[in-house]
Amino acid sequence: MKFSLFSLGLSGLFSLGASLTISQINGPAHRSPYENKDVKDVTGLVTAIGPSGFFLRDTTPDGPTQSSNSVYVFTSSSTTIRGNITVGDAITIDGRILEYRSDRAYLFLTEISAPKNLRKVSSGNRVEPVVLGKERSPPTCRYSAIDEKAGGVFAVPNNQSLYSVVNATVEQDKYGLDFWESLSGELVKIPGPVALSKPSNFGDVWVHGEWRVTGKNSRGGLTIVPGSPGADANPEAIRIGSPLDSTKNEATKLGDKLEEITGVVTYAFGFYTVLPLTALKVKSSAEPAVPPPASLKSSSRCSGLTFGCYNIENLALSSAHLPKVADHIVNFMGIPDFMFLQEVQDDDGPNNSGNVSSNQTLAALSAAVKERSGVSYEFAVIDPVDGKDGGQPGGNIRVAYFYNPEFFTLRNPNPGSSTDATEVLPGPELSFNPGRIDPANAAWTNSRKPLAAVFDTKGGDKVFVINVHFASKGGSSSIQGDARPPVNGGVEDRQAQAESVTSFVSKILAQDRGAKVIIAGDFNEFTYISPMRAFDKIAYDLDIVTEIPVEERYTYLFDMNSQQLDHMLVSYEITQRDPEYEHVHVNTWTTREGEVSDHDPSVAKLNVCK
Ligand SMILES: *[C@@H]1O[C@H](CO)[C@@H](O)[C@H](O)[C@H]1NC(C)=O
Ligand SMILES: *[C@@H]1O[C@H](CO)[C@@H](O)[C@H](O)[C@H]1NC(C)=O
Ligand SMILES: *[C@@H]1O[C@H](CO)[C@@H](O)[C@H](O)[C@H]1NC(C)=O
Ligand SMILES: *[C@@H]1O[C@H](CO)[C@@H](O)[C@H](O)[C@H]1NC(C)=O
Ligand SMILES: *[C@@H]1O[C@H](CO)[C@@H](O)[C@H](O)[C@H]1NC(C)=O
Ligand SMILES: *[C@@H]1O[C@H](CO)[C@@H](O)[C@H](O)[C@H]1NC(C)=O
Repeated sequence: MKFSLFSLGLSGLFSLGASLTISQINGPAHRSPYENKDVKDVTGLVTAIGPSGFFLRDTTPDGPTQSSNSVYVFTSSSTTIRGNITVGDAITIDGRILEYRSDRAYLFLTEISAPKNLRKVSSGNRVEPVVLGKERSPPTCRYSAIDEKAGGVFAVPNNQSLYSVVNATVEQDKYGLDFWESLSGELVKIPGPVALSKPSNFGDVWVHGEWRVTGKNSRGGLTIVPGSPGADANPEAIRIGSPLDSTKNEATKLGDKLEEITGVVTYAFGFYTVLPLTALKVKSSAEPAVPPPASLKSSSRCSGLTFGCYNIENLALSSAHLPKVADHIVNFMGIPDFMFLQEVQDDDGPNNSGNVSSNQTLAALSAAVKERSGVSYEFAVIDPVDGKDGGQPGGNIRVAYFYNPEFFTLRNPNPGSSTDATEVLPGPELSFNPGRIDPANAAWTNSRKPLAAVFDTKGGDKVFVINVHFASKGGSSSIQGDARPPVNGGVEDRQAQAESVTSFVSKILAQDRGAKVIIAGDFNEFTYISPMRAFDKIAYDLDIVTEIPVEERYTYLFDMNSQQLDHMLVSYEITQRDPEYEHVHVNTWTTREGEVSDHDPSVAKLNVCK
């Protein structure tokens, strides 16, 4: 240990018996017992220095594990302190304890602000990170005690209480938020990191390190899987933020292996985050870069027709990604005989012109597929009322069907208008074909109306199809935010929407229990949450029926989670004929630049014979 000019020496350090340790400042709960209080003679080792502060660790870090031994010192108003310290210095400062957050929806970060009276105790001390996965490992299933009491992180109703108000004693071995809280301000090492996401707009990326994880999919991501209680949404993942040395993180994709990361734990913009000392680097890029094409191929007979489902992300006539969507349909989905499409925009896209027709958009996509494959899809669609179905303003997104006329014909075509509700008639038949389901129901306010249709299959039976795009999760709070359980935006709407569709399908089944019904689309919801459970009475989830492993059930990446928003549900009769199903991870696996849509497509092969 080398002493600097300002040094008080070791005797000085040990004489500060009455002063607070950093562990005492953090205390046993989320919020400091010394919030808004001035503290004197806080001694610590400088472990890292950032653009507007530095990180300090107890010089004898032996406090209880639940109270972090480290703390962030915020220095914006006194940069001279930052300029006079280096990593490895042991220092003593005075300051004020603050609980800071930039938004009320977030958690607090405990910090020492306005530090003054810098006294250097020693310098050149060794600074060793806490090795995660070795010294400390995160819990893998639950986020907080509050969620657990409510029935899980996705329990409905949510936002029952606020983490910062409950301010419970940290249980770092049980709950993810508590674990990361107990390391707030700490310098940590993450061995063997694996990327769980692509970079955000700010270059942040989610990882897990060499520690126990659950929900691991074959690509290397972490999928939301069933948990106790409810679902396991992977609190063992940690976000990597902007490097402290102002370098830029390398771009990642799902499953990339990264070089070891050393950085400090903080909380910023709604998430616990490790700020790496320097930019994270990709060690080996996940291979193959794109998944193999769907293995399911149409048998061109009613016993094995293929049904695709794809949210094609705001596709309009002039969209740059239109030819790429056609490539996906041809080269990755195997040109399904029938397609459930979501997010088809009107012909002039986001131009708010009052134009609601998507005929040219759909005709252009069909022509692009034909050019690549010779297959000429016909389409069935009903234009929405201008501006009434949500989504990108002016775009008038809607769901639509593509069908190969070699195998499907619309049965007794009688399209409804945007405001006509199609009804189930004896037979069963549909009063409007295609027709929208219950469009006047308040459940569909500012949301896509489902499109019901009945098709005759060549040599087979009639098939009822319902294409949905439920209300988005907009308005949700961070999974690591203050509201517990986190706010799941639009969940009440999706519940009402699911009940509307369920009631419609039950009328078809009341006419014919053996009816072949397929409900598919972007439900904007996970299997484990109540809106999806509303379908239990009338339909079967093809992921479950075909026994796709829970970890491989994903069509979307959000934050740290591989997750499934897109589903295909079928009536009982279809489950009895050996259905097959797969997700084609053509967008989740690729780079951000390689993405054609934010959703993966899925393909099923079904027997719809009489
Ligand atoms: C939070 O908990 C700590 C430790 O029990 C306590 O000292 C502090 O006063 C609490 N703060 C609030 C705002 O409840
Ligand atoms: C170090 O501290 C001294 C005294 O407060 C101040 O004058 C000087 O500017 C500081 N140095 C740096 C690099 O900030
Ligand atoms: C969650 O509930 C709190 C009150 O307990 C409220 O202030 C906050 O706005 C709610 N958050 C959301 C996103 O609804
Ligand atoms: C809608 O927009 C497209 C593309 O700009 C245009 O060709 C078409 O004529 C418009 N249709 C109507 C009904 O305005
Ligand atoms: C959108 O509107 C602008 C201005 O009227 C026009 O120049 C442009 O061609 C329109 N785009 C489409 C796709 O119709
Ligand atoms: C779109 O196509 C349908 C069927 O091909 C046709 O009935 C309808 O009039 C077309 N709409 C427009 C605005 O061209």
